[in-house]
Amino acid sequence: MKILFATSEAHPLIKTGGLGDVSGSLPNALAALKHSLRLVLPAYGAIMERLPVGSSPKKIASIMVEGCERNLVAHILELNAGSIKGLDVPIWLVQIPELFERAGNPYIAEDGMDWWDNGERFAVFSKVVVELAMDRAELNWRADAVHVNDWQTGLVPALLHLEENAPVSVFTVHNMAYPGSFPKSLFEQLGLPWTLWHTEGVEYWGHFSMLKAGLMFADWVSTVSPTYAKEICYPEYGYGLEGVLLKRAAQHRLVGILNGIDETVWNPEKDPLIHRNYSASKGRVVGKQHNKQALLNEMCLIIGQDDCVIQPKMASWLERPLVGFVGRLVEQKGVDLILTILPEMLAQSTANFVIVGSGDRLFEAALLELAAAHPNRIWVYIGYSEALAHQVEAGADLFLMPSRFEPCGLNQMYSLAYGTPPIVHHTGGLADTVVNATDEHLKNGTATGFVFYDPSRHALKSTLLHALHLFTKKRTWQALQKTGMQQNFGWQSSAKHYAKLYAEKL
Ligand code: ADP
Ligand code: GLC
Repeated sequence: MKILFATSEAHPLIKTGGLGDVSGSLPNALAALKHSLRLVLPAYGAIMERLPVGSSPKKIASIMVEGCERNLVAHILELNAGSIKGLDVPIWLVQIPELFERAGNPYIAEDGMDWWDNGERFAVFSKVVVELAMDRAELNWRADAVHVNDWQTGLVPALLHLEENAPVSVFTVHNMAYPGSFPKSLFEQLGLPWTLWHTEGVEYWGHFSMLKAGLMFADWVSTVSPTYAKEICYPEYGYGLEGVLLKRAAQHRLVGILNGIDETVWNPEKDPLIHRNYSASKGRVVGKQHNKQALLNEMCLIIGQDDCVIQPKMASWLERPLVGFVGRLVEQKGVDLILTILPEMLAQSTANFVIVGSGDRLFEAALLELAAAHPNRIWVYIGYSEALAHQVEAGADLFLMPSRFEPCGLNQMYSLAYGTPPIVHHTGGLADTVVNATDEHLKNGTATGFVFYDPSRHALKSTLLHALHLFTKKRTWQALQKTGMQQNFGWQSSAKHYAKLYAEKL
């Protein structure tokens, strides 16, 4: 089958979070099943500036597309499969300089605010995706299935719905918290067909929602874990769209397919970004200790704390449990819970903390303040660092992920793979991937981490204290680590599940 996979980010070209990881690995897994893939994303300035030498993209088509009361030209640039290390499929970059060639990340400007024209940017990108899917750019490649992701490409299924002989559309929701909602005037200015403007269409409380467009019109709606697929049918997780989701579920068109992880990128045995490689069966204990020391050294250097290499200090740190966190610093991730328990945890335990993240300016400032008040106990790096993310997974003893909601979550799977038992709130993909270290699960050898059931500071704190207690029982701890490392979170079975959807039209 010919599958067009459209996304607003894909690792290693551009990434702000888990969508980038998924879009950088699921297409490879589908190609391995012998499907013909095209990965399409905007030609952001940040991608074009960092293209590896020798990977020069070829312009293969130019098409006209209607923006907000203006016509734009989109050039389609092609990169051959393999010209970007780690991406085994051909890539189409949609080059529209007016919309995508600017500094900052895909969604926000350098001042931390959403780009003012995000609605136009991604609606226009979606229009181009439809043209490519229908082979109107004359590339002699017509899609059998179009797989789109989140609100940024949510308009694609709605526009395909208006076409004769449209390919099958799959809309994957990675996060219901982002509705892609814009004023009605945008819909008008984009010259979109009014047949789509109704409550059973793209209208969402008088606004134009690109998330709703995808949910209403896709042949298949999928989300990234079985538990989240159920949760979003309730008001607490559905953001007012639970009615739409219930309807799609009643049509048997809503499925939860657990994300996989890219085992070529997140694998302690081969990871080039960590200081010493190890596996479940080889060098795990020594390897992790070595990575812990390297991580602490690295954090001290970053913070400008030069005396950290002093041996007695480091020796005492290596004895203490090190708790890690990596992620977007937003409410979703339970950062507020972490902030409230940190001072008590420092007083009541010997644990040290390493935190890597960026996001909400208030959370960033509060974390930096705590780190400044507790040198040698908390190290905080505000910013985005792929290398540090890997080093925390490898060097920490425990991984903190108290998300209030989590559609899937990749970090907990990475931490399981790296022998760093996660502490998670029982929600979404976290509930589907972590087995709580109860006495029973420890006894029958299925435990992989620590789960708490109420997103409160008390629950998080007592679970963390319980985990720290178990950390002192070396045998039990090592068995826990090993069980986590032996889980299979590869893409194979989920990729097959998606391939089944592509083969079945509504
Ligand atoms: P989400 O997509 O909601 O952010 P996931 O757990 O699915 O959460 O995926 C997050 C991905 O982004 C992981 O690969 C994680 O390592 C990465 N990440 C998040 N914040 C940072 C950061 N500050 N530096 C490096 N990587 C980060
Ligand atoms: C979103 C979700 C996260 C998920 C990721 C990839 O960003 O917040 O839970 O793992 O998408 O699907």
